Amino acid sequence: MMADPAPLPKIVVLASGSGTNLQALIEATRERDFPGEIIAVGCNRPGAFALERAAQANIPTFVIDHTKSDSREAFDASLMAELHRHNPDVIVLAGFMRILTPDFVRAFRGRMLNIHPSLLPAYTGLNTHKRVLEAGDKVHGVSIHFVTEELDGGPVIAQSEIAVNPDDTPETLAERVQQQEHMLYPIVLRWFCEGRIQLSANGVQFDGTLLPKPMRLADS
Ligand code: GRF
Repeated sequence: MMADPAPLPKIVVLASGSGTNLQALIEATRERDFPGEIIAVGCNRPGAFALERAAQANIPTFVIDHTKSDSREAFDASLMAELHRHNPDVIVLAGFMRILTPDFVRAFRGRMLNIHPSLLPAYTGLNTHKRVLEAGDKVHGVSIHFVTEELDGGPVIAQSEIAVNPDDTPETLAERVQQQEHMLYPIVLRWFCEGRIQLSANGVQFDGTLLPKPMRLADS
């Protein structure tokens, strides 16, 4: 008799908006050999289209409406309770527009990933495409990092860059950066689920070796 296969790592995706990254992850995890399973999608906005995408894919959803929480701590406590209920191996932030409290972040240290539309450490925070244009940068891109207490400041696992063209607008940049996001996030999540990437005290370990710099997928 064959032994039962090992259970797949459990993934919870948190999103706030349209959920195009969620969609890319749903499609990737549907592939037969993907080493993880999205067991739930959580949102802080009841109307987020990400919820619709999850429902279409028959993935359970939950909503913690931040406008109904008295404080950031109360919101995080509700979110934490919901996450404990699902007991995920990894939490994937995919356009989740809430700043999490340090206690929350510490509770999931090494198990929470975020995607950010810039080549970190450049341009933490919002409006990255506009700021890249204003600065006259020639390259831009996307970063995937472990979440730590520092906003958009956790060790970067992988990046993908795009060239900035003279006629680019924030919208055209956003579109090309998102194409890179949709390609890169499934790759990094696969690595995580395969146990290939870990957060150590000194940074990101890949296959047991400290990464001297983020993995880079260049625009082709
Ligand atoms: C992405 O650009 C991501 O980098 C940022 O929020 C956006 C989410 O987009 N953190 P979507 O909801 O996945 O379409």
